[in-house]
Amino acid sequence: MSKIPFKILIVDPDHNAFDFLNTQLIRFQLTILSSRNLVDAKKLIISDRPDLIIAEMYLPDGSGVDLFSWMEKNFPKAKSILVTSDVNVITNNTTYDHDLYELLVKPFPTTELDRVIKKIYPELLSIFEKEASRQKYMEISFNEFLVGTKALMSLYLKLSVTKFVKIVHKGEIIENALLEKYKKKGVRSIYVESEEYDSYLDLGLKASDIIKDKKNISIEKKTKFFIHVSDIFQEKLYKTSFNEDDFNDAQSFVVDTLEVAAKNKSVMDLMELLKNNSNVHYAHCLAVSIYSVLLAKKLQWSTDKTTGILAIGGFLHDIGKKNFPEELRTKPYSTFSEEELRLYENHTILGAEILTRIENIPKEVFQIIMQHHECIDGSGYPFGITNVNIFPLAKVVGLVNRFANLVLETEKGKAMTPKEAIKYIEYNEKEKFDSKMLEELKRLIIL
Ligand SMILES: [Fe+2]
Ligand SMILES: [Fe+2]
Repeated sequence: MSKIPFKILIVDPDHNAFDFLNTQLIRFQLTILSSRNLVDAKKLIISDRPDLIIAEMYLPDGSGVDLFSWMEKNFPKAKSILVTSDVNVITNNTTYDHDLYELLVKPFPTTELDRVIKKIYPELLSIFEKEASRQKYMEISFNEFLVGTKALMSLYLKLSVTKFVKIVHKGEIIENALLEKYKKKGVRSIYVESEEYDSYLDLGLKASDIIKDKKNISIEKKTKFFIHVSDIFQEKLYKTSFNEDDFNDAQSFVVDTLEVAAKNKSVMDLMELLKNNSNVHYAHCLAVSIYSVLLAKKLQWSTDKTTGILAIGGFLHDIGKKNFPEELRTKPYSTFSEEELRLYENHTILGAEILTRIENIPKEVFQIIMQHHECIDGSGYPFGITNVNIFPLAKVVGLVNRFANLVLETEKGKAMTPKEAIKYIEYNEKEKFDSKMLEELKRLIIL
């Protein structure tokens, strides 16, 4: 998605408030400017001419209202939003000038921000929605299930961000030689048109339901098929909007996946299959889902409810990265700038927020998403809470998440074997995780 020629200036002395808005606005792919006080804000408005200014009421050298009054005289075209948590401003109508600015009361959910933006800049939301729907092609990985069958839809190769070329027409038989040829060239993904993607996913989900009980298909082949369907599913969750049906489909899909995954003779085989996946992030989410359930079973937490919560919580634990640019989602943690790091760490809160828009989500799933980066020694984020305050299933997902990151690491040459990953955690990060859980994970991996 290319950048939209629209600039927003955020004026807030509080780092956290700035970060929150920044993470909310990143999905619009526009330019975000920031200043901490009135003087710098004025300088930026003169030099950069932002289209929208979002300012905190209380600034160290004045107020957001002062800024908006100054703008009305000098830059009447720019729109303004005042943010405050001061009840006097909210309740006192003489202070709140409806013509001068819109008001947002802290803390506000994304839906409230969207409502205000829609009111003053309806075109901004529609540009964003249009851009999102212009996502014309969706990614699927090369895999054996395509070969030898009639193509249910046309397949494309990606040449650049905007250029795609058709390699197989709908209805044609997909030749192995063709896929091999591209594979040799290092191509790992093919693309299908978004409109046809949904029916492909539907077919995949239905087939998963049938295949899991078929006796004449090997476990390895079944597992590969489930990984493939998981990829298609994750692509949809990350690239299109997320609704209640998606959640329900995901829930039954992960439970079916576990049934098949549990039949693999060794948990290592499973990790090997996931390692070969073309999309590291999607493989990571599936790995966290499966291994969290396996670890909980080792801990003898094996009620159906716990299994279901862990499976879906693991599958969706990083859904807060949904609106992040692709490179931020996959780039190694060690290479982040300070601002990227702050943005990245908000994925826990953003994830929980995405789910609050959907009804009937179990509260345990929220806790997993919100707390999977908390550590028992208090060194985690977003709240830095310690041992007894962390939801036990979030501790399971947190440990498995760390393990999966080390094994499926995107940084070249850095990926560890499962055994090395366990040793690494034992020697370097023991105090961050529950010792019993680490012990059982070790048994699960090393046995
Ligand atoms: Fe995460
Ligand atoms: Fe993760």
